[in-house]
Amino acid sequence: MLLEIKNLSRRFGGLQAVSDASFSVRQGMIKAVIGPNGAGKTTLFNLISGTLLPSSGAIHFKGQPIHGLPPYRIARLGMARTYQNIKLYPGMTALENVMVGRHCRSRAGFISGMLSLPWTKKEENASRAAALELLALLDIADLAEVEATSLAFGQQRAVEFARALAMEPELLLLDEPAAGLNIYETAEVARLITKINEQGITVLLVEHDMSLVMDISHEIVVLSFGEKIAEGTPSEIQHNKEVIRIYLGEDDA
Ligand SMILES: Nc1ncnc2c1ncn2[C@@H]1O[C@H](COP(=O)(O)OP(=O)(O)O)[C@@H](O)[C@H]1O
Ligand SMILES: [Mg+2]
Repeated sequence: MLLEIKNLSRRFGGLQAVSDASFSVRQGMIKAVIGPNGAGKTTLFNLISGTLLPSSGAIHFKGQPIHGLPPYRIARLGMARTYQNIKLYPGMTALENVMVGRHCRSRAGFISGMLSLPWTKKEENASRAAALELLALLDIADLAEVEATSLAFGQQRAVEFARALAMEPELLLLDEPAAGLNIYETAEVARLITKINEQGITVLLVEHDMSLVMDISHEIVVLSFGEKIAEGTPSEIQHNKEVIRIYLGEDDA
């Protein structure tokens, strides 16, 4: 298993945001975590990526315990993520945003980069070429020189994907990649996620858009009030009585 979550819990004061959740993610798959608002999906992602510490339970990535490690160490092991609200650097082009993602992989850091030492020039060229390749993979090479935050939301999402891919992750966590997108942009994001997965990258996503989840996921985990209430293939989940009940309860279909 690439990722294993065992009896994971996180409390905020008296609130049990994630409660004794266990599931795993096999290498190569697209797995989705769904559930009503407040179900604990973002908290779960924060626990996996190390920005929150669990109250109890264990997380193993590539067979190694990662609960308690700081986010940068987890990222270096091969995990990248995107956020529910897009976080691109303003005042930088799409290409520069992607190059920042690569910095965690390059030998020369920010400081030597600013000093423009000769070997870092070579690295910068390599980094630029790699970033351009990623933009091309996500079909936005033509936007490389455009200021990233001036792009349409769907395009910003693609830049964010490219920046995460620049970290050369084995596991990519996507928190609500279709949030705020129209139906055309959502279809494009679905296509891009599948394309990323076909590059051999395992994807774990949290998403509200049920048709996107059902279209692209191999397996789905359903959370409700922090607890896992179901897990299975899209068709198993669509026919699960408990799942139907919480979703009908939520938005009156
Ligand atoms: N930092 C925090 N402090 C206190 N409560 C939080 C915090 N983060 C999330 N929560 C609460 O935990 C629950 C789960 O939230 P969240 O993980 O954001 O759910 P989801 O992403 O599924 O909508 C919610 O009740 C939310 O209010
Ligand atoms: Mg959330």
